[in-house]
Amino acid sequence: MEQPLRKTVIAGNWKMNQTPAETTQLLEEMKPLVKNAYCDVVVCVPYIDLHAALQATANTSICIGAENCHWEQSGAFTGEISAAMLSAIGVEYVILGHSERRTHFGETDVTVQKRIRAALNEKLKIILCVGESLEQREQGITVELIAMQVKIALGGVSEDELKQIIIAYEPVWAIGTGKTATAEQANAVCAVIRQTITDLYNQNCANAITIQYGGSMNAKNAEELLAQSDVDGGLIGGASLKAPDFAAIVGIASKT
Ligand code: 13P
Repeated sequence: MEQPLRKTVIAGNWKMNQTPAETTQLLEEMKPLVKNAYCDVVVCVPYIDLHAALQATANTSICIGAENCHWEQSGAFTGEISAAMLSAIGVEYVILGHSERRTHFGETDVTVQKRIRAALNEKLKIILCVGESLEQREQGITVELIAMQVKIALGGVSEDELKQIIIAYEPVWAIGTGKTATAEQANAVCAVIRQTITDLYNQNCANAITIQYGGSMNAKNAEELLAQSDVDGGLIGGASLKAPDFAAIVGIASKT
C-alpha cells in the first residue's frame, strides 16, 4: 500500500510553567533553533502566557496553542476560558482531554466531546489526548479503553471537521515519569487509534490523521519513537521547556 503523506507535528505542552516574561525569553531562544523545521511546530502555553507567546512568534512558523478551553462561548463559569476567547486573540491550537485534566479536574470523555465541539466551532485545531493508566494497561484493557476514549470524544465530529484534529496517545504511566513507552508499545496503540478512525470514518481519514506520541519523549528517545509507522509526531512536556531539547526533537522529526 502507498505510504500516506501525513503531517508530522511536534507540539510542546508547557503545563503550569513559565511567566509571560519567561515565555518571551524561552520562545526567543527557540525561534532560531527551529526556524528550518521541516515539520509543524506548536507550542501550547498557559492562558496567561498566550499573549506573550503570540507576540514572540509573530511572523514565524511556530503556532501557539492553549492547554484547554471551556465548552460554552461565554457566561457564568468563573475561572474558565472559552474557545471563542482563544480564537479572538489569534490562538490556533488547543489541547483537549489531557490526562492531567481528566485525573485532577474531573474531566470525562463526555466533557472532552463538548470541548471539542466548541473548539471546532471556533475553527481551532485540536490536539485530543487519550491514554491508559498503568492499572488499566495491567488489566489488559488498553485497546478497548483507547478506542472508547476516541469514539466518545469524536461523537458528532464530521469527516471534514476531523481534519482539524490531531490525536495524541499519552500513556498516563509515561507522563513526567521518565518511563517511556517502548517504540513498539507506542506504535501499537497509535495503530489502534488509526483503526478506530477507520471504523468511525474510513480508510482515507485514518491515513490522513496525525497521531502523536507523548510521555517522556526527549532528544534521546525521539528518533526511535518517531520512526514508527503510526507515530506522526510528539506531544512533549518536560523537554519542551528547554529550547535545545525541544529543538533537537524538532530536528529529528524534520528528518523522519
Ligand atoms: P512529559 O513529556 O513531561 O512526560 O509530558 C508529556 C505530556 O503530558 C505532554 O502533554
